[in-house]
Amino acid sequence: MKRMLSGIKPTGQLHLGNYIGALRHFVEYQDEYEMFAFIANLHCITVPQDPKELSDNLRDCVALYLACGLDPDRANIFLQTDVRAHAQLGYIMCCHTYMGELNRMTQFKDKMAHGEKNLSGGLYTYPSLMAADILLYDPDYVPVGEDQKQHVELTRDLAIRMNNRYGELFKVPEPLVAKVGARIMSLSDPSKKMSKSDETNKGCIYLLDDLKKARKKVMSAVTDNYANVHFDPENQPGISNLMQILSSLSEDRPMGDIEQEFAGKGYGEFKRSVADAVCAKLEEIQAKYKQVLESGAINDALSRGAAKANEYADAKLAKVQSAIGMEIIR
Ligand code: AMP
Ligand code: TRP
Repeated sequence: MKRMLSGIKPTGQLHLGNYIGALRHFVEYQDEYEMFAFIANLHCITVPQDPKELSDNLRDCVALYLACGLDPDRANIFLQTDVRAHAQLGYIMCCHTYMGELNRMTQFKDKMAHGEKNLSGGLYTYPSLMAADILLYDPDYVPVGEDQKQHVELTRDLAIRMNNRYGELFKVPEPLVAKVGARIMSLSDPSKKMSKSDETNKGCIYLLDDLKKARKKVMSAVTDNYANVHFDPENQPGISNLMQILSSLSEDRPMGDIEQEFAGKGYGEFKRSVADAVCAKLEEIQAKYKQVLESGAINDALSRGAAKANEYADAKLAKVQSAIGMEIIR
């Protein structure tokens, strides 16, 4: 069975874009692949965090993973800091990364270009830590959003570099972008991605949003004057985005099917159907989320996941340290 690994950095609440673009695919992948899904809490603190908020977000993220259907019997779900080898191999990878490479990483470059002040050293070197996260487990595939592809490419370069220098240490992983590539757009501005950094809070539906609030966000979504439910992301981005949400939440129903159902009907009726589908999904997720919180399933899942992850990670770290000559031969 091929192996897959992905990490998520919950610096905010998970939203519908995360569910449609990433989480629901992880749930599908867990049967097809040996799956490692971890919560990147070391990466979270590369930017300042409120301690209480961070801790709540980490808990909610695991709870939502489980609520959405990731199953500890089929996937290894763990917290990055429960596997110390991440930080340790992260340091080793950092020593094998050139500053020129880190300088080219667009995430850091963009923040510098925007004149952001007091950026941390951790933010600068985080691609090296991300490489360690991946290479510890020899995954075949790393499903990520488009913005993370550059980091997986750096990971490949570092793996090849170290394999050449020390002998075969790491499998060279492939990024997997297409299958998780859906871009759900903001409901209030369909030219922008639905994102947790939405200032108005009207364009982003959080998985734990109150249902009334979520319905209102859908009903007031920005559309157009064509009065035609038609899939055309270029000219009708708002309507096309709502169609994509409806399709994703109803087993990838074909767009033609949706167009037919709403031919000659008003946007109000169409939006009500989208809102019904969104609320039904949120209700289902939220009910399971409550059960998960009450059942102690989080601790159980994380300790099982960490036990398995530590087995792989410790063995890999020992192999790397020995190949580099960091150990005293006794
Ligand atoms: P982020 O919230 O940016 O850390 O992303 C976590 C995962 O969700 C990544 O795999 C992203 O590609 C995915 N994701 C985030 N926002 C969206 C969106 N608006 N539409 C689809 N996928 C998304
Ligand atoms: N950097 C990723 C993000 O910002 C999260 C992440 C950390 C990750 N380590 C990873 C993703 C390893 C895939 C593999 O979303």
